[in-house]
Amino acid sequence: MKVISIVGARPQLVKLAPIAAAFARTEHEHVIVHTGQHYDADLSDVFFSGLGIPDPDVHLGVGSGSHGVQTGSVLSALDPVLDREQPDWVLVYGDTNSTIAGALSAVKMHLPVAHLEAGLRSFNRRMPEEHNRVLTDHCADLLLAPTEEAMRHLAGEGLADRARLAGDVMVDICLRIRDQVRAGEFPAPELPEGIDPSEPFLLATLHRPDNTDDPERLSAILGSLAKLPVPVALAAHPRLVSRAEAHGIDLAQGNVHVGRPLPYASLVAAVLASVGVVTDSGGLQKEAFLLERICTTIRPETEWVETVDTGWNVLVPDPHTLAPDELAATVTRPVPAGDPGTPYGDGRAAENVVRLMEEWKEGRRHA
Ligand code: UD1
Repeated sequence: MKVISIVGARPQLVKLAPIAAAFARTEHEHVIVHTGQHYDADLSDVFFSGLGIPDPDVHLGVGSGSHGVQTGSVLSALDPVLDREQPDWVLVYGDTNSTIAGALSAVKMHLPVAHLEAGLRSFNRRMPEEHNRVLTDHCADLLLAPTEEAMRHLAGEGLADRARLAGDVMVDICLRIRDQVRAGEFPAPELPEGIDPSEPFLLATLHRPDNTDDPERLSAILGSLAKLPVPVALAAHPRLVSRAEAHGIDLAQGNVHVGRPLPYASLVAAVLASVGVVTDSGGLQKEAFLLERICTTIRPETEWVETVDTGWNVLVPDPHTLAPDELAATVTRPVPAGDPGTPYGDGRAAENVVRLMEEWKEGRRHA
């Protein structure tokens, strides 16, 4: 089989790592196309080098733009690549603009599309990711779901016959890197100045348009983090930095200490060193769960409902509306009792993905 993986944004590179490793253990040809949606070294290059991913075979270099411009640029740049390569599968990841563009380009050329991380839903139509994932699921041929909940969503939308439970490839990579961090194979993470890793601290990220793009809201969220009694290490995404600059908001306020986005192993090490996570990222909610740190999510809903059901994650959509001591008590609450189980699989999802793609290709889709 010849498989083309289309990636472009940071969370896709994390998912690509175990997939590329799984394909490398087979005879299949795996071609990596980087759309260039993320182009900063902090968001892209360090993930290839740090996670041992082979360099992309093709780089489209599309860069930033409005949703339409970015999606359209990937779409038009992909057509000649897919036409030339004629793969047996186009594999798209997650829910970014690169995902929907990859799926659309492929499906219109009658190339089979597999969607990794299919079936996730926030049911929040303000999120660009929600449009991307719903549309991608409906145009893909094989839907590789990470959870039972995702399988139920796909069945509810009439897509059960294309859906297969693969498990979550983020477990594969997160647990592998956790073990390497614990074995001392990586240097200590570069935490923002003012954070002492031997003292309790919270690790925070914030990048969703709904939290960053409205100056009043961004200012209010930062103000509430600034008043926390525990130091906050804010690994600032370029979107956050650029929006804060444009709005004239200082990110470094009170107890908030600002640093750069972290490479993956540093992120895992930072979560392990922290007493908890405060975020609006999808991936980080789950990484906190897998690394057994409590998470507080600044969003009204989550796709990763298992993290909430097991008590490891609490949704606080508007932290600035809570009294400071109430917010402090939430972000430093005790870890929940009880075994959360393994709702995201056993860390062998990438192997399942390869097997499911082989079976489908061999016509054993009903096996
Ligand atoms: C994208 C994904 C989001 C994912 C996130 C992870 C979409 C719609 N969103 O959001 O699902 O959680 O990646 O990081 O695809 N920028 C840089 N350097 C870069 C990349 C972006 O400075 O390397 C700036 C851009 O100029 C832009 C902003 O960051 O202002 C947003 O970038 P974009 O890729 O459009 O979306 P993200 O917010 O990163």
